[in-house]
Amino acid sequence: MTKKSRARAAGVSAPAPAAGPADPAAIVRKLTVEQKARLLSGASFWSAAEAPGVPPVYVADGPHGVRRLAPDVGDVEGALPATCFPPAVALGSTFDVALVARVGAAVAAEARERDVDVVLGPGINIKRSPLCGRNFEYVSEDPLLAGEIGAALVSGIQDHGVAACVKHFAANNQETERMRVSADIDERTLREIYLRGFQRVVTRARPATLMSSYNRVNGTHTGEDRRLTTDVLRGEWGFEGLVMSDWGAVHDRLAGIRAGLDLEMPAAGEARVAEIVAAVRSGALDPADVDRSAGRVVALALAARAARPAAGTALAERGDDPETWHDDVHHALARDAAGRAIVLLKNDGGLLPLAPRTRLAVIGELARTPRFQGAGSSQIVPTRVDDALAAIRDSATDVVFAPGYGPGAGSADELADEALADEAVAAARDAGVVLFFAGLPQSAEAEGRDREHIELPAAQLEVLDRVLAVNPRVVVVLSNGSVVRLSGFADRVPAIVEGWLLGQAGGGATADVLFGRVNPSGRLAETVPLRIEDTPAWTRFPGTGLHVTYGEGIFVGYRWYDARDMAVQYPFGHGLSYTTFAYADLTVAAGPADGVVGLTARLTVTNTGGVAGREVVQCYVSLPGSAVPRAPRALAAFAVVDLAPGESREVELVVDRSDLAFWDVRADRWHVEGGAYRVEVGASSRDLRVAAEAEVPGDAVTHLLTPGSSVGEAMTHPVVGPTVTALLRAAGLSDDVMIMTQAMPLERLPYQPGSGVTHRRLRHLLGIANGPLATLLARRRR
Ligand code: BGC
Repeated sequence: MTKKSRARAAGVSAPAPAAGPADPAAIVRKLTVEQKARLLSGASFWSAAEAPGVPPVYVADGPHGVRRLAPDVGDVEGALPATCFPPAVALGSTFDVALVARVGAAVAAEARERDVDVVLGPGINIKRSPLCGRNFEYVSEDPLLAGEIGAALVSGIQDHGVAACVKHFAANNQETERMRVSADIDERTLREIYLRGFQRVVTRARPATLMSSYNRVNGTHTGEDRRLTTDVLRGEWGFEGLVMSDWGAVHDRLAGIRAGLDLEMPAAGEARVAEIVAAVRSGALDPADVDRSAGRVVALALAARAARPAAGTALAERGDDPETWHDDVHHALARDAAGRAIVLLKNDGGLLPLAPRTRLAVIGELARTPRFQGAGSSQIVPTRVDDALAAIRDSATDVVFAPGYGPGAGSADELADEALADEAVAAARDAGVVLFFAGLPQSAEAEGRDREHIELPAAQLEVLDRVLAVNPRVVVVLSNGSVVRLSGFADRVPAIVEGWLLGQAGGGATADVLFGRVNPSGRLAETVPLRIEDTPAWTRFPGTGLHVTYGEGIFVGYRWYDARDMAVQYPFGHGLSYTTFAYADLTVAAGPADGVVGLTARLTVTNTGGVAGREVVQCYVSLPGSAVPRAPRALAAFAVVDLAPGESREVELVVDRSDLAFWDVRADRWHVEGGAYRVEVGASSRDLRVAAEAEVPGDAVTHLLTPGSSVGEAMTHPVVGPTVTALLRAAGLSDDVMIMTQAMPLERLPYQPGSGVTHRRLRHLLGIANGPLATLLARRRR
């Protein structure tokens, strides 16, 4: 059976051939209120509604593979097979936007093949806590990296005729009470950390759709939050696509339509249509709001129809057997991506790469039964699955295997199985190297629930201890979708390979790295802490009384550990190679205040080892002495460089001026502070090899002066500052009194004996300060 006919079996009908260009507004004008209302909710689990001139749109989960289900089926069991690429946790570790875009293109090709118009991904929420049960679906703790990888995926998908859906907008950083909890976040933190990645993807990759999240932000459901869904998203960032709800996220549909939540998913039934129609008829809902959202659904449907190949040509054009065409090519791509995602955390004494003749003991059921993706809506049915054990056997001459622990072992406190443990110890005793596969069972991390701890299963750790007692030459190979505590054994094993969840070809990729066919270049997209108690959201996660306070503010991930100068197990950006790199000759130049470029760093990177390798060159920026609290350093640019042994390359890293800005809460806008920025470039956030400074010109930001502004603020105002200062000096205040006066609101000055400032004079000063400036500021915000 061809894939096409398989798709039909799953309840998918072939799309109509493309019609000529049509105007969404003109189509909407011809629809009745009821037809328009019907367009605002899904027609099934996985499709939007049809109307005259409006074809249906099919959506499917992703984004690390296509989970094509029949319209009325919600569960993964019924899905068509598709290539399972490495999930976001692994793609983030590649730091390789070109590779990630290729994965996006392959996902689009498979979506097209399965008549899917919209792939529901990528998910780019920030990993606020290692305990979030969905961290495997997210990219990073850092907004720049999450945004770059997310934009690459969106571009890869959309450049190949399929729409992407960036999710979950916004601040969906936990699973506990995900449908009701309010993420309470101050504006600066929201802008700089939790919205920043979305902003990057929207402005750079122009996604066709976006998914609102389940949770509330500062008390309001995100899909009902007009400021978020319309003012910021569309007004500030220029988003022109469609916003759909997460599945079943809608709380108050009418409020959502007013706020700009165009499409409710999945199908909400006739009652919803009636509700919308009645609201329009009673005047409770502005018909213009319905027309606007219906127009966006129509625009998406028309674009989807135009992008679909005429029936039958998609497969015919390839000229190959459609059963195998993508399977082989995409499986190979999945293996490349997985190889690039693996992070070599530790490699004392160069234990890796392995020589093929080394006597190997492979211990751990996970080597034979891999865990390669997370559980929940992103779970897809793979076309095939490679296991590491078979790939290791293909690569080495002398391999013994012992499962060590049972499949799915287990809970954090489950005891080791004595027989399996003894067998593992016997296998390990005489081995040249022990490859110990450890990791989390599926039950430990899944959509819909958070983790309670970051421990590996106790039974696995117990067997590891027993193996170490007879043979210290142990390489621990990890499978986990979110970080686990390594401090219990990291000092006692010479090598650790972080394999995350690597998709269906991860087994082969693991062997590629172990045997040196791939020189590891994955880097940590999230810090590995020493203990869960050290992590930024500890004590606040997952909140109480349906509120979770983001009290750590902007200090998320490495920003937190660096600000407190805390020890970590492995820092953000860390990852070893089988070769070494030298950094030299850093120069940094600042761009002009009215330009796009903030800083340009140039340096030379040299492969100083004996084998070809890839370095992920990371550029961190800080502003010592900033007027606002800042992280000691923040990732501002990165580049991957492939170098032959002895080869040098000049690397240029461009930092956008917008990435130097902080969110100025008083001015309610981004603000690039002028000053000497420190640029550090290196192999991780804590392995900085070269540093330089450059003087960046600041934005001319002037705050409006109000009666509530402080005297100090008035004294530094560019227009009236000199006058205010002169008045107070003339009043003959002592230095001490002057300091206290500066903290005083302006409106109190007329009541201060001898201040020299009358009510009339104050009004006059405020008028001068705000007249022309207010206009200027308003213009700048536009
Ligand atoms: C998830 C989304 C997913 C949707 C459809 C929801 O439960 O949060 O990420 O796209 O289901 O499966």
